Amino acid sequence: MSNKKTLTPSTASAATADFDLGGSSSSSEPLIANAATYAIDAWGDGFFAISDAGTVVVRPDRSPSREVDLLEIVEGLRDRGYGSPVLLHFGDVLDTVLRDLRAAFDKAIEENGYQGAYQGVFPVKVNQQRCVVEDVGRIGAGLGFGLEVGSKPELLAVLALTVDQPDRLIVCNGFKEDRYIEFAMLAAKLGRTIVPVLENLKELELVLQHAERIGVRPKIGIRVNLNTRGAGRWATSSGVKAKFGLSLAEVLKAVDILRDRGMLDCLELLHCHMGSQMQDIRLVMAGVAELARIYTELHRLGAGVRYIDVGGGLGVDYDGSQTNFAFSRNYSLEEYASTVVYRIQSICDDRGVPHPTIVTESGRAMVAQQSILIFDVMGSNRFEPHDIPGDLEQLRGHGDEQPARPLIDLFEAWQRISPENLLECWHDAQSARAEALNLFSLGYMSLEHRAEVERIFWTLALRARELSVGLDPLPEELAELDDLLTDVYFCNLSVFQSLPDCWAIDQVFPMMPIHRLDEMPTRRGTLADLTCDSDGKVDQFIDREDVRRWLPLHDLVPDRPYLLGAFLVGAYQETLGDLHNLFGDTHAAHVRVDDAGRWWIEEIIEGDTVREVLAYMQYDSAALTRAIRGECERSVHRGKMTARESREMVQAYENGLSGYTYLEGDSD
Ligand SMILES: Cc1ncc(COP(=O)(O)O)c(C=O)c1O
Repeated sequence: MSNKKTLTPSTASAATADFDLGGSSSSSEPLIANAATYAIDAWGDGFFAISDAGTVVVRPDRSPSREVDLLEIVEGLRDRGYGSPVLLHFGDVLDTVLRDLRAAFDKAIEENGYQGAYQGVFPVKVNQQRCVVEDVGRIGAGLGFGLEVGSKPELLAVLALTVDQPDRLIVCNGFKEDRYIEFAMLAAKLGRTIVPVLENLKELELVLQHAERIGVRPKIGIRVNLNTRGAGRWATSSGVKAKFGLSLAEVLKAVDILRDRGMLDCLELLHCHMGSQMQDIRLVMAGVAELARIYTELHRLGAGVRYIDVGGGLGVDYDGSQTNFAFSRNYSLEEYASTVVYRIQSICDDRGVPHPTIVTESGRAMVAQQSILIFDVMGSNRFEPHDIPGDLEQLRGHGDEQPARPLIDLFEAWQRISPENLLECWHDAQSARAEALNLFSLGYMSLEHRAEVERIFWTLALRARELSVGLDPLPEELAELDDLLTDVYFCNLSVFQSLPDCWAIDQVFPMMPIHRLDEMPTRRGTLADLTCDSDGKVDQFIDREDVRRWLPLHDLVPDRPYLLGAFLVGAYQETLGDLHNLFGDTHAAHVRVDDAGRWWIEEIIEGDTVREVLAYMQYDSAALTRAIRGECERSVHRGKMTARESREMVQAYENGLSGYTYLEGDSD
């Protein structure tokens, strides 16, 4: 996945103070987490910062004078009865992002003297939640933005959300069967600006049929398969073997069909989509240039083209590295806009073709930043040194048998370890442990001695890491100790439901505690979720150089919550999440921020109850309760339970059905 350099050994060493993702901290610095610890300035794009109180604040327009404290919001929600996990949507962040997009294209258009217009459309599939689409609709209306749909259900939702907005551009992508196209043509009849984009020639037939029957002159788009392929995870969205779009031969066929019908003027839009998260601007340049060439050819052939739709793909710099790493992008928004405008303009000018309206379908880049997932840590498994016996005689005390050779070797490695023989002792320890495991499997080692092997081995590993601090160069095998000796933090969330791309495509999102940032994190942890699935974990985190295998975290304090945030999660995560282990949708709160920096809750969408997720799986809660009540009655009859106990049992069961699917402890 990664195409960046891996961590150089000398940067992955210190036991406590070298968590600085920016690489600047040293043990002499004050022990507080700073912005660099979590690279918040790099990925936060001015929207997020750390307050003097050590909490994360959100700045919807990047201004410190209008900021809200995440911890305060989470506590406020808890007071209202909504505990974590909770997804926070900031419509005011979205507002700024959409304005930035508009401004970047306006600037590029002005600077280049481009004669055409710009029109952004939001691809609904990136986040179909009603509140988000409504927000995009509301904010986008003032910016001239439209919407893109990829299926019949999305079209039906969008048609109703845009009533009486005839100028709102609706682009229809995706595989289109009869009804989908019929709805698009009916919308055209209503006077809507709607463009079905053909993915194949069969769709052209359907458009022509329905348009004739309904009596509209349709606007038609064509999605073309570019030769230019995207890169990374979504490279196959484009290229000649892509799943969608017409080959050039098919494009010409469509032109012939339309010409024969006297409808070539209806071919108004040329579209491509090079793939999501385009990490390298050179691919954007190549793809847009190819698209623009095809556009000018269609114009020459007499098509009524006036929109050029470059699709989605504008990347999000999830790790803030500004590189061509899969989850970063090596360009700015301004560079993207000026690349798109300039390429189209220069190719149209070469051919004497009027400048088209440029359409973008950026989805991820529009909505990623506005959502933050907050979840609490329930406990941790820590790597701690054990008390190791002082001599071999004491070792013998563990069980009746004499210690086997590997145990003795390991013990001696432990006794010998020093900065001078670090690597050698680490090798000895690894091989002694492997031999010990073998002996145990074959029945030649007791459980007590096997446990002693584990204790000595991990204590030695911790010691080796401690002694390796400052070694330059640091041998690679010792550098790897950092990844090995991490704690596991158990979190109240489902990765499958809330961060599915972490699991499915190894995506990294910026994550950090949202409070206690006035204390230096002293632990290194990975995150484990609530599901009974070993994939239900997060063990890859953002890093300047590559991905990091651990996150700097604080020691847990008994009876004090520890809250983490996963940031930039507004794109794709909500819609792709699933019900693994029946953990349902989390609560989602739509938070608004007024001009004075005071927050208020515009809407709370309650997370799924147990009853709801069971219903998705075709369980009837009433029948389930009846079954439990029946068993209780039989227990009362047999004298195993009192009637009062049976009532409590049924009540607890019913409460369970009405409850949140996540741990509810902290919402009381
Ligand atoms: C046709 C089309 N347009 C737009 C998008 C949105 O892409 P992104 O979210 O990367 O901007 C997609 C996503 O894959 C797509 O398939």
